[in-house]
Amino acid sequence: MKTLISGGTVVSSTGRTVADVLVDGETIAAVLAPGSTALGVDLATSVDRVIDASGKYVVPGGIDAHTHMEMPFGGTFASDTFETGTTAAAWGGTTTIVDFVVQYPDQNPLEQYALWHDKAAGQCAIDYGFHQILSDVQDSSLKAMDELVAEGVTSFKLFMAYQGVFLSDDGQILRAMQKASDNGAMIMMHAENGSVIDVLVRQALEAGNTSPYHHGLTRPWQAEAEATSRAIMLADLTGAPLYVVHVSAKQAVEQIAIARDKGQNVFGETCPQYLYLSLEEQLAAHSERWGAFEGAKWVCSTPLRSRAEGHQDHMWQALRTNDVQLVSTDHCPFCMKDQKELGLDNFAKIPNGIGSVEHRMDLMYQGVVSGQISLERWVEITSTTPARMFGMWGRKGVIAPGADADVVVYDPAGHTSIGVGKTHHMNMDYSAWEGFEVDGHVDLVMSRGTVLVSDGAFHGRPGHGQYVRRGLSQYLL
Ligand code: URP
Ligand code: ZN
Ligand code: ZN
Ligand code: ZN
Repeated sequence: MKTLISGGTVVSSTGRTVADVLVDGETIAAVLAPGSTALGVDLATSVDRVIDASGKYVVPGGIDAHTHMEMPFGGTFASDTFETGTTAAAWGGTTTIVDFVVQYPDQNPLEQYALWHDKAAGQCAIDYGFHQILSDVQDSSLKAMDELVAEGVTSFKLFMAYQGVFLSDDGQILRAMQKASDNGAMIMMHAENGSVIDVLVRQALEAGNTSPYHHGLTRPWQAEAEATSRAIMLADLTGAPLYVVHVSAKQAVEQIAIARDKGQNVFGETCPQYLYLSLEEQLAAHSERWGAFEGAKWVCSTPLRSRAEGHQDHMWQALRTNDVQLVSTDHCPFCMKDQKELGLDNFAKIPNGIGSVEHRMDLMYQGVVSGQISLERWVEITSTTPARMFGMWGRKGVIAPGADADVVVYDPAGHTSIGVGKTHHMNMDYSAWEGFEVDGHVDLVMSRGTVLVSDGAFHGRPGHGQYVRRGLSQYLL
């Protein structure tokens, strides 16, 4: 099957040009001047299908490098399965996710990895890779890290918070970093000081402060900045590359920038919630149904930050200057009913997470509309850099001959209203983005040559998505 995506503006991380994109089977065969006869034939009449993209942007499919489908967490499971979550992702122009295999203390990382393959196989509408979470780092975990790298799991997430659940102590972190320095893997860090947070949480609850807003107040920016700094020092000591996940505090960004200025392989990821939403809005949230518990919709870790303190503005600036390299969602959806509700009387029992996998491309495109980032930077932070950061570039993250035909046709003149019952296919009974009006529209989504979304309809299927065996990072300094 040959397809010509004709007349669109093809955008890469480095430029844009009006071009025709020839897709042959699952890959991109050529990017040609419009109406080109360079291949010796009139393509428009010789291909099986022509997609008219004139007046629209043709961009590489989005890559969401941080999702948690069906994640067991907080006494429940993230509400999107691999099927519902990847279908929602496709609707929003994301054609690859990298999800997290979970290893709780005393579980065998390799057994967990096999289990996650069982969960995802045959279910995904788009391609998927895995990072591995390590909690307790045992001798066997270090051995498993080598085996997982050979499997294409080239990044390992560690936690400096969640004592007794995920937390690794500094010695365990050091050992995992030594291994990563040796085998080339990326260390991903949940950088929050867990001991400090645990004390603040206990004190808040003892004082009767149980509402969702106190989740944010008990995870102050100092706990994030301190842990970020500590992780950077440990990475420096070992030589391991470090990727700090879901950065929300401007002071954490500053730590990352200092390390990068010194030439250290330290990278920062942020998420749409840390660019658009704030602690003040969470405090103000109130509904007839939920009262002040409405704020539970925005309970995630790291937490939303104060707008008055300037974190969101600083984060946009860091995205422009590349102090922060990319935007993932940290998609970890929980419904209000029966899930977030677990913390009705105690914010510490609210399962942590926000669902955004469907909206990342649209939400970040608003940065282009408002002039905060360029069109090219939009492609870079949502697709090209995730591909490079996590060893998929060449196959993903670029529209070039030989790459997988993962392509989005994006209409800058279109419009998208976000919310339950509007554009929302995630398995959630609410949206953290309810009411957001987006300039721009995902018109067509292609994954390895197959059209998944067009004309407002979904044509994909569970099982189309394949496992992506990733290489080592292609982004190191
Ligand atoms: O609140 C969050 N971020 N939930 C998902 C787990 C994690 O720490 O990434
Ligand atoms: Zn985390
Ligand atoms: Zn996460
Ligand atoms: Zn449209």
